[in-house]
Amino acid sequence: MGNKIIITGGCGYIGSHTVVELLENNFEVLVLDDLSNSTEKTLERIEKITGVKPQFIQVDLKDASKTNAIFSKHKDAKAVIHFAAHKAVGESVNNPLKYYKNNLYSLLNVLSAQTENGIDNFIFSSSATVYGTPKILPITEKNETQRPFSAYGNTKKIAEEILEDLINSSDSFAAISLRYFNPIGAHDSGFIGELPSGIPNNLMPYITQTAVGVREKLMVYGTDYPTKDGTPVRDYIHVVDLAKAHVIAVKRLINKKQDEAFEIFNLGTGSGFSVLEVINSFEAVSGIQLKYEVTARRPGDVPQLFASTALAKEKLGWSAEKSLDEMISSSWKWEQNLRALENSKL
Ligand code: UFG
Repeated sequence: MGNKIIITGGCGYIGSHTVVELLENNFEVLVLDDLSNSTEKTLERIEKITGVKPQFIQVDLKDASKTNAIFSKHKDAKAVIHFAAHKAVGESVNNPLKYYKNNLYSLLNVLSAQTENGIDNFIFSSSATVYGTPKILPITEKNETQRPFSAYGNTKKIAEEILEDLINSSDSFAAISLRYFNPIGAHDSGFIGELPSGIPNNLMPYITQTAVGVREKLMVYGTDYPTKDGTPVRDYIHVVDLAKAHVIAVKRLINKKQDEAFEIFNLGTGSGFSVLEVINSFEAVSGIQLKYEVTARRPGDVPQLFASTALAKEKLGWSAEKSLDEMISSSWKWEQNLRALENSKL
């Protein structure tokens, strides 16, 4: 076929949705995942959606020799999309070394293995967290980056710096870093979605778990921010829109259409919604009254984050298409379907 893409973390939340979009665009996919925060069942669920079961190798990318051995057998891959990373902000504050070791060793091993095997295209799963507390909104890619509050966030910032150095040292290596705002939502099929292990850190899975009764009530972290209703504002983006941007970015790399060897794009909708607006939309979409209580601010939370989407539109020809209601209804469908899926063979 000649269009193989290696996806690290392909059983995870954003990874699995990207695998679906790649398969639907006739790419061949090799998923690498250690299954530390995901399940192999996702591969069968992807097959249910696309009719294709992606190739899969279970591997801990912190193991350099195993990583190298895999890449040396897949030298024909055209690009790597690197999702594999730990992502719990709070845990990273309490256990920074776990995050620096996992996220940075894995990155370094993947970059070494791919460049040693002549695979020169790389897409990095970055985050709006690299902007810290932005002084200017909406956030353009030209906004200065700041040291993020959490070790998790700092691994994203350091990773982008590593990529910049690698690109400056090479005539052939090229990368695109995609800075995600707040991904929520799930595939329309109800077969894949976010699978938080333990107590969710993020707003959307906490809301849906509260609504099904797994959590007693949602805590709203602060209503005294300088925002429209006092709660923090975020740029929520549907995970399927996000996944589609990866397909466009990978084609841009493979077809050598970049303006520069290292490009960075924000992936958001450009619209900001407050925590209370998300709760209200959830209640309207689901018909359920959510139990919640206002509590103190969560350390490290930024009052407002929303993207300028102009660059992604201009260079990638991509913009998000799905509304907040579609994000919320698909998250809600997924939460309800999940229990049925877990009780079935899938
Ligand atoms: N929130 C609550 N209650 C909860 C969970 C969240 O009120 O139980 C609020 C937060 O205070 C915040 C908003 O909902 O105002 C969104 O919180 P999330 O945890 O869903 O998202 P964050 O914006 O904090 O974090 C996201 C990504 C991180 C990334 C960060 C960059 O999850 O990976 O954006 O800013 F680092």
